[in-house]
Amino acid sequence: MTATVDAAGRRGGVLVVDFGAQYAQLIARRVREASVYSEIVPHDISATRVRDRRPAGLILSGGPESVHTSGAPRLDPEILSLGIPVLGICYGAQLLAHELGGKVDRSGLAEYGRVELHVTGPGTVVSADLPADQQVWMSHRDAVVRPPEGAAVTAVTADSPAAAFEHPAGLFGVQFHPEVAHTPHGQRMLENFLYEACCCAPAWTPDCIVETSVAAIRAQVGAGRAVCGLSGGVDSAVAASLVREAIGDRLTCVFVDTGLMRAGESDQVRETFGGDGFVFVDAADRFLAALAGVADPEAKRRIIGELFVRVFEAEARALGDVDFLVQGTLYPDVIESGGDVAARIKSHHNVGGLPADMRLELTEPLRNLFKDEVRLVGEQLGLPPEVVWRHPFPGPGLAVRIVGEVTRERVETVRAADAIVRAEIHRAGLGRDVWQVLAVLLEVRSVGVMGDERTYGHPIVIRAVTSADAMTADFARLPYDVLETMASRIVAEVSGVNRVAYDITSKPPGTIEWE
Ligand code: XMP
Repeated sequence: MTATVDAAGRRGGVLVVDFGAQYAQLIARRVREASVYSEIVPHDISATRVRDRRPAGLILSGGPESVHTSGAPRLDPEILSLGIPVLGICYGAQLLAHELGGKVDRSGLAEYGRVELHVTGPGTVVSADLPADQQVWMSHRDAVVRPPEGAAVTAVTADSPAAAFEHPAGLFGVQFHPEVAHTPHGQRMLENFLYEACCCAPAWTPDCIVETSVAAIRAQVGAGRAVCGLSGGVDSAVAASLVREAIGDRLTCVFVDTGLMRAGESDQVRETFGGDGFVFVDAADRFLAALAGVADPEAKRRIIGELFVRVFEAEARALGDVDFLVQGTLYPDVIESGGDVAARIKSHHNVGGLPADMRLELTEPLRNLFKDEVRLVGEQLGLPPEVVWRHPFPGPGLAVRIVGEVTRERVETVRAADAIVRAEIHRAGLGRDVWQVLAVLLEVRSVGVMGDERTYGHPIVIRAVTSADAMTADFARLPYDVLETMASRIVAEVSGVNRVAYDITSKPPGTIEWE
């Protein structure tokens, strides 16, 4: 059975059945890292739907429940008779054992954290070429004590007599988590399942993604015309490039300069997308006028969102017969919004809430992709590295990095500081190690001394975070000398700033942006 991917990129590949796991998204990412397409589906998916999707394999995720609890999530039993290879992870493995004549117990067998795994027999997933003793990551209270009928145990731990098992019918179970970094050979085990058990080819590569996306866009848009709001960020840039590749000059990109952009951003966008099919709207004066005297963060966001929509809508109307609106919605947004309907509401929100009477159909070429895949596609399409590797930037721009009122002068202050922190992080070669680095301007003032003179200026806060998806984040452990260079340059080069602080709050409890 070879994984095939259709024009919409949906068929074939592997379905990750979500039993409420912390790690379902991570499993899907790991599968994609093995160049195999994957999608997350809910555990109540029917056997008919699974068959219609023609997956090359199924991975049953972990989950918080016990198979012995009434109401615990189950799988449509017919799914296990479809002849599709299945890998159960943690709860998924327990479910296989429970449903197929094995035994799951809760009797002091809980294991949490790093555990030593001992390989007892040659297997497909826990293969003979892996070390006989290795570390794996466990997080379970129940344990499989007897594998499904007809299955052989391939690995044990001190407390798990069936830590890995395999059934000749193509059913595999692992009590541990191969998807986390703490299981050093986990990726190899997943690849064994994908390549050996499911016979998947590592075909989900950037050129395949581009090809399938372009075909899907052509199928959707036909001879129609599309418009795309460019923000300067990587998502809208890659989405626009894909659509341009698909329909050429029937796409018009609209860039609204709100006056709240990062240094050089407008020029960068103009350089990359300028020419035919590009509209540049300088609305800086309108945005700054609308924000005058406003200090409340939510009020700022509302004002910017509404004005953005008005400006964008006027441009779209001026273009005439446009049928499609291109948006850079990503797969995690789709998963987190809990399905197609909710996802649509969120995507409208991406451009600040488009009016219902706009009558544009959405084209979302990135809705099956993770952020790292978007960057690979950007590279494949030849976008400049400064665009592809640019850090995320919020729609309301620098306004939400200025605590208090937004004035032209304060925008310039925070913009200059932001340019310095970004330049220094890239000079230190750390640009790709952090999710985002930014500068925040505060209203308070403090006393300092410069060149024997007393100063009474404002502080800039540097914020740098590491993150996989911005849902959670940790403050980046930047080297002191990089922080020192940033701080000295900011105080020396940005007028009105005499102090620099580093934000060491994680998310939660903080958010990444200050407002
Ligand atoms: P927070 O501040 O919520 O941000 O931790 C998480 C990530 O999202 C970005 N962000 C936004 N992006 N429109 C956007 O397109 C917004 O209104 C917005 N607010 C925050 C933020 O930069 C971070 O990467």
